[in-house]
Amino acid sequence: MVNLRISALAAVLLVGALAGNAHAAGSKADLEPSGIDPGNINSLQRGARNFMNYCSGCHSAQYVRWKTIGEDLELSDEQLINNLMFNAEKTFETINIAMRAEDAERWFGVLPPDVSLIARSRGSDYIYNFLKGYYIDPSKTTGVNNRVLEGTAMPHVLGGLQGYQRAIYETREEGGETVKELTGFEIAVPGSMDAEAYDEFVRDTTNFLAYIAEPIRSERRQLGVWVLIYLLFFLILARMLKKQIWKDVK
Ligand code: HEC
Repeated sequence: MVNLRISALAAVLLVGALAGNAHAAGSKADLEPSGIDPGNINSLQRGARNFMNYCSGCHSAQYVRWKTIGEDLELSDEQLINNLMFNAEKTFETINIAMRAEDAERWFGVLPPDVSLIARSRGSDYIYNFLKGYYIDPSKTTGVNNRVLEGTAMPHVLGGLQGYQRAIYETREEGGETVKELTGFEIAVPGSMDAEAYDEFVRDTTNFLAYIAEPIRSERRQLGVWVLIYLLFFLILARMLKKQIWKDVK
């Protein structure tokens, strides 16, 4: 009986752990869902390309090996080297940047964080909205501000694609005070992409960041299923054993 309870408890805990790992970070209520699909290899490949072209100049991903990316994203070494690896790295190396920390600090005031685990600490919805949340703000040195990370030091590196948005405010009276509230955006300077294409671009990039934050996620899910089957097997065995042992005791 004790055996049975323990296995049942373990099974319940496991199901909980498997179901609950997707969103570790607390997300803000007004974040638009990222809609990423971790199983979509094409999206991950596009995301990897986007990341290498637009982000890797400042952000490293020191916990991610090229080899792993190649295997998971179904890219040959040749494809990796020709299309993604710009810094003459070896495939067993991780994604590093050429920028020196002191320079970065001087240019941005803060160090661009390593993004290996950023999707886990911030959540994918956060990143998706962060990359969509830039708007013109002449009071900032970068010329832009961000709806999600107020006063961010990161410039709008995707401004050429998305264009530059102007914030729309609504003012209303509340208890004798004028409250100014950001209600939306409109494109002030068009970029090379329309809204839909840009959303797709950002979604793929976010998908890639979510993938590198947990490259073994799909593997772990699969393993979880086997563990559950294993537990179930012992549950049945324990029941049979219990019946056998107690059959003469009335
Ligand atoms: C020109 C350098 C530069 C480039 C290129 C760049 N970033 Fe950043 N990024 C920064 C800096 C600096 C910060 C720190 C911002 C801060 O703390 O205000 C940052 C912070 C971030 C953060 C963390 C935000 C937070 O909540 O702390 C994320 C996520 C991020 N960048 C994603 C990206 C992605 C995705 C790309 C490519 C599309 C990219 N960055 C390209 C400089 C850059």
